Amino acid sequence: MTKHLITSALPYVNGLPHLGHLVGCLLPADVYARYLRQKGEEVLFICGTDEHGTPSEVGADREGMDVVDYCKKYHDLHVQMYQGFNLSFDYFGRTSSDQNKEIVYRIFKALDQNGLITERTTKQVYSPDDERYLPDSYVMGTCPHCGYDKAKGDQCEHCTKVLDPTDLIHPKSVLSGSSNIEIRETKHLFLELPKLEKELALWIETKKGLWPDIAYSIACKWLKEGLQERGITRDLKWGFSVPKDGFNDKVFYVWFDAPIGYIGITKQWADECPESRNWETWWLNAPDVRHTEFMGKDNIPFHTISFPATLKGTGEEWTQVAFLKGMNYLNYAGGKFSKSAHRGVFLDDALTEFPADYWRYWLMANAPESDDSSFSFDLFAGTVNKDLNDVLGNFINRVLKMIGNNFGNTVPSLGPVTEEEENLYAETDRLVHLYGDAMNRLEFRKAISALRELWVLGNNYIAKTEPWKVLKTNSTYGGTILNTAMNLILLYAKLSAPVMPETAAKIQALFLTNHALDWPTGTAADYLKTIRGGEPFALTEPLFKKILPEQVTELKLKYKETE
Ligand code: MF3
Ligand code: ZN
Repeated sequence: MTKHLITSALPYVNGLPHLGHLVGCLLPADVYARYLRQKGEEVLFICGTDEHGTPSEVGADREGMDVVDYCKKYHDLHVQMYQGFNLSFDYFGRTSSDQNKEIVYRIFKALDQNGLITERTTKQVYSPDDERYLPDSYVMGTCPHCGYDKAKGDQCEHCTKVLDPTDLIHPKSVLSGSSNIEIRETKHLFLELPKLEKELALWIETKKGLWPDIAYSIACKWLKEGLQERGITRDLKWGFSVPKDGFNDKVFYVWFDAPIGYIGITKQWADECPESRNWETWWLNAPDVRHTEFMGKDNIPFHTISFPATLKGTGEEWTQVAFLKGMNYLNYAGGKFSKSAHRGVFLDDALTEFPADYWRYWLMANAPESDDSSFSFDLFAGTVNKDLNDVLGNFINRVLKMIGNNFGNTVPSLGPVTEEEENLYAETDRLVHLYGDAMNRLEFRKAISALRELWVLGNNYIAKTEPWKVLKTNSTYGGTILNTAMNLILLYAKLSAPVMPETAAKIQALFLTNHALDWPTGTAADYLKTIRGGEPFALTEPLFKKILPEQVTELKLKYKETE
């Protein structure tokens, strides 16, 4: 049987994640993992913090901390926030772990033995005042093409020309502002991607029609332009030191060790419980493993070209990505989320304002799948008030109240069903299939819209059959309607569980007889008869609260939503 390996792109440890990060990979991966588990599939869901590189060193300096302590501090904060959002990782590890180091070394040595690692002399910017080599993006100056005076050493944001830091006029360090800048020659190791190009192209060709267009077309574009040798070492202190004579004082480039982190973190998971867990059964010679990766679109080249090539170059049978879900960007009220201006909603703040499920639902319903999408508090409040309060919450409250008033706190029996119920069964079947198919294809907006339609269906069923009237003359059929409605509520708990796990658990707790939140099997005519007459239930508080207009006004101010 197929086993599902699910990974979300590993968030950079420095700085704190916002809603854009959540919807860009972590949350859809979680929803998919929960859905598959619910269907009884074997799932391993892996994530962790991406810790190496200049931004961590610089961030630690800024906070006057040792980089090791700095990374630990932020790693722990990530963990806390993701727990708050109920992300159901099997393991949330770190790219700086010993386990990852072991795998990085193993892969590097195999590549080296296979003649795929070469030495080259490169020119690099050194800043004596900062006492460090500067990555291209940490050098700023005037663009030689358009004269823009804040062009970065990797690209001019004004005319979009790709630059080399040595192209810049009046280059300065972004860190200290110092223009005392030297170009030093230094030796680095390169991965010979051109030697792997043929093999890679053949493999990518097999993904046509299997990977989503955005992933397949980005991979093809890179191949068409021809692959270049890729530098995999850097002159930094923080990182895994390079195990090769002459290079011991350098470290691996963060994009070399980060994706290997998926494997290293799986080993962290396995090492916790070595009797029952084995990382190799997920990663080496494992044709039964289906690896699904989630990431923002800017990550696609690394996951379709450089990481697969790195694995192929070892000559071993590593698990390669089977399906790749690339997400577009979530904007904030028409602009960008900004870490430096603290514009946008960061995850710690989000949880102080509303329960995780409000956010989870809104984000998945508006996921930036085929295009970028935009968050605003008006949109957010609109969805919470309408979908969650008026449609789902209201249905549950009305049904529970009607049963409470007419039958006490036990579910009435199902009597003979009419055409109304037969129609309801048919429509439910159709929508449940639509929902499941969309989930299988990882089309989340479609899935959520089918879920919402199911909630609407329940409301329409009640509006049409009018149980409050029927009960006055025909309590048997009145009971049948409310029994059916109660079964719909259980169905809603099951189907909402991947997206809104806390809400689903609350609904589940209504039923005093235990009903698992597994995937409904058979047809609606079967599973809408799960709850039988006489089962007790508990009345609860309403599941959701409306967001009032004055609250929206306050939130907009507080979170700098100006447009
Ligand atoms: N840290 C990167 C980002 O946030 C993603 C790294 S994904 C990995 O864009 F696979 F390389 F780890
Ligand atoms: Zn320019």
